[in-house]
Amino acid sequence: MNSKIKKIIKKKNKSKIICLTAYSKNFAKEVDKYADITLVGDSLGSVLYNYNTTRKVTLKNMIEHAKSVRMGTKKSLMVVDMPYRTYRTKKEALKNSIRVIRETKCDAVKLEGGFKIKEIIKYLVKNKIPVMGHLGLLPQSVRGKFKSKGKSKNEKNKILRESKLLESLGVFAIVLECVETSAAKLITNSIKIPTIGIGSSLYCDGQVLVTDDLLGLNDTKIRFVKKFVNIKQIINKGIKKFKQEVISKKYPSKKYSY
Ligand code: KIV
Repeated sequence: MNSKIKKIIKKKNKSKIICLTAYSKNFAKEVDKYADITLVGDSLGSVLYNYNTTRKVTLKNMIEHAKSVRMGTKKSLMVVDMPYRTYRTKKEALKNSIRVIRETKCDAVKLEGGFKIKEIIKYLVKNKIPVMGHLGLLPQSVRGKFKSKGKSKNEKNKILRESKLLESLGVFAIVLECVETSAAKLITNSIKIPTIGIGSSLYCDGQVLVTDDLLGLNDTKIRFVKKFVNIKQIINKGIKKFKQEVISKKYPSKKYSY
């Protein structure tokens, strides 16, 4: 097992796991200083391309962005999302995962789903592909409104059983997206691998957020998104200053000219 993965698993019950998204080199460089896991998420579809669903994200999109992220990622574990319709069969999943790992040099891939993709995860792990799971709200499966998961007894039980299944299949961590607090707590306490929450309470072993969201770059109103800084103000300040100096002919002065 990859030593970075071992380290992440060991953090369970000791210290929180930090996971953040990056879609390009410059962001990855900064994220890498603080994150245990850098995730090239298919959320790049909505964040960068304005898609209304992650279903439109292609393997080529993921590979190109992941190659860029690789250049900025040194210390953290780099995980790449397998996009929609790239893991429908065992063979397709293995072929595409191998391609992603070979072309991007990432450490692991992430797949959305539980019971439905049991055989696929089993096959990938058997073929030495490090896999991160993703349960609860599954953006690739959503049609219409996004809703939290695990509120009803049935749903809570299903996600719990799926978490145990993924653990038994050999995934090294599970993202729990929008899972109700008591369900997230129960799942986290019931498995030995870490849970990484997004909108799933502080009982998870780690937390993930879309970096653009926490920086205040996206105008999102999702309940779990906290804007930790308003980077738009800083960007505006810089761009405004550039414009003013160009118009006033202050820039480029001799110092900045050949
Ligand atoms: O696509 C993504 O960025 C994700 C995380 C938000 C968990 O899957």
